[in-house]
Amino acid sequence: MGAASMERENGAVAAAAAATTEMLSPPRVNSPRQALVERLKDYGQEDVFALLDELSPDERDFLVRDIENLDLPRIDRIIRCSLHSQGLPVAAIEPVPENWVATVDRRTMEDREKWWKMGLKTIYEGKLGVVLLSGGQGTRLGISDPKGCFSPTRPVTIHWYIMTSPFTDEATRKYFSSHKYFGLEPDQISFFQQGTLPCISKDGKFIMETPFSLAKAPDGNGGVYAALKSSRLLEDMASRGIKYVDCYGVDNVLVRVADPTFLGYFIDKGAASAAKVVRKAYPQEQVGVFVRRGKGGPLTVVEYSELDQPMASAINQRTGRLQYCWSNVCLNMFTLDFLNQVATGLEKDGVYHLAEKKIPSMNGYTMGLKLEQFIFDSFPYAPSTALFEVLREEEFAPVKNANGSNFDTPESARLSVLRLHTRWVIAAGGFLTHSVPLYATGVEVSPLCSYAGENLEAICRGRTFHAPCEISL
Ligand code: UTP
Repeated sequence: MGAASMERENGAVAAAAAATTEMLSPPRVNSPRQALVERLKDYGQEDVFALLDELSPDERDFLVRDIENLDLPRIDRIIRCSLHSQGLPVAAIEPVPENWVATVDRRTMEDREKWWKMGLKTIYEGKLGVVLLSGGQGTRLGISDPKGCFSPTRPVTIHWYIMTSPFTDEATRKYFSSHKYFGLEPDQISFFQQGTLPCISKDGKFIMETPFSLAKAPDGNGGVYAALKSSRLLEDMASRGIKYVDCYGVDNVLVRVADPTFLGYFIDKGAASAAKVVRKAYPQEQVGVFVRRGKGGPLTVVEYSELDQPMASAINQRTGRLQYCWSNVCLNMFTLDFLNQVATGLEKDGVYHLAEKKIPSMNGYTMGLKLEQFIFDSFPYAPSTALFEVLREEEFAPVKNANGSNFDTPESARLSVLRLHTRWVIAAGGFLTHSVPLYATGVEVSPLCSYAGENLEAICRGRTFHAPCEISL
């Protein structure tokens, strides 16, 4: 028998078998649910229906709707690209050229004044928008409320775009309304939600949080690019005349929102994107640092785990600094033009970081992978990125871990604020008394009195403050 006739014969047998089965059981292959199972099979994810028969009708509907709403081809592409890229050799890295960084010691007084004025003028002209990244789940901090509802929030008088996720949205909105929008008009703020992606096991299978729901997580703070685009907020920005966008994370209590000096520097440089950086505290500090990927390649950030011991401790003989010393602190500035371009490029790229985290599953917490893009993933797409050094004690006090941990706790952040503001008060001619040791207390200056230590003389000169206390209007 020839191959073609054999195929015909086999086909006929298969058709007859199928017809017999159809006669014995209802024609399920045509039911929408069966079609969904077939689609899941195409992507190797049919296990999500493993317990379907044990679910109540409501639970079943919930699961079916959840799956129907997934863009399975896109998610499958992301999973495959991201898992595949893990095994690929990565291009060697090089330190960031020195002249790419505006270091604190190279900045003159004239530079600072020029940038401050340029920035203020641009803000006054309504050309700056501010984006707050507040979609993270704060798993390390171990709180149920979003981080933004937990730490002091600083009001601004510029249009404020606040990114939440399904996990933080409701609580964040409630927090703002219960605090009367911190003195802002509610329409000065636009909330928008970032996307989510299913959490997966190491072999790329969806993890079930319950028998009828997938474990999902926000798609990383780099999800901001796609979310701004899909919620049409880039168009909203353009209609308001915004040209520059300041973008920062919610968990840094020393953040200088809409910093005029940084904005002025950014405009002066004519860059498409910029990042504030702080100097790495010590070689083994577990922070991501800026590097060039490949010989003469683009600027990007690598995790500390990618730097081996000799690289992490290598010293630049000329500057005496660590060669890889510029830490990423999630304080960025972008042109609106660049934000319009980058979302498409990142989506096409399809490679997400695989963050190994504790994932809630049917069988309790399990280690699994969250698929995330990071805010710095856009830098390789930028025609130019400028780095701007800031001092940790002035601008970076992150809240990452619960009190009792060794670093980046609510308590360490609170003390950083008190320390900085106490220095401002002393520099402005004030005096301090305290009945607990000074390292555990201090003065807090309301952001309505001073943004970065300026204009405090009239309030402080010759006055004595008893710590702890707050200086407000
Ligand atoms: P982190 O990387 O510290 O993540 O976020 P996290 O979710 O707050 O905390 P862990 O890792 O679960 O403990 C840095 C900034 O990025 C925001 C966070 O809200 C924070 O401002 N972020 C993070 C998002 O907006 N979306 C995300 O998907 C992740």
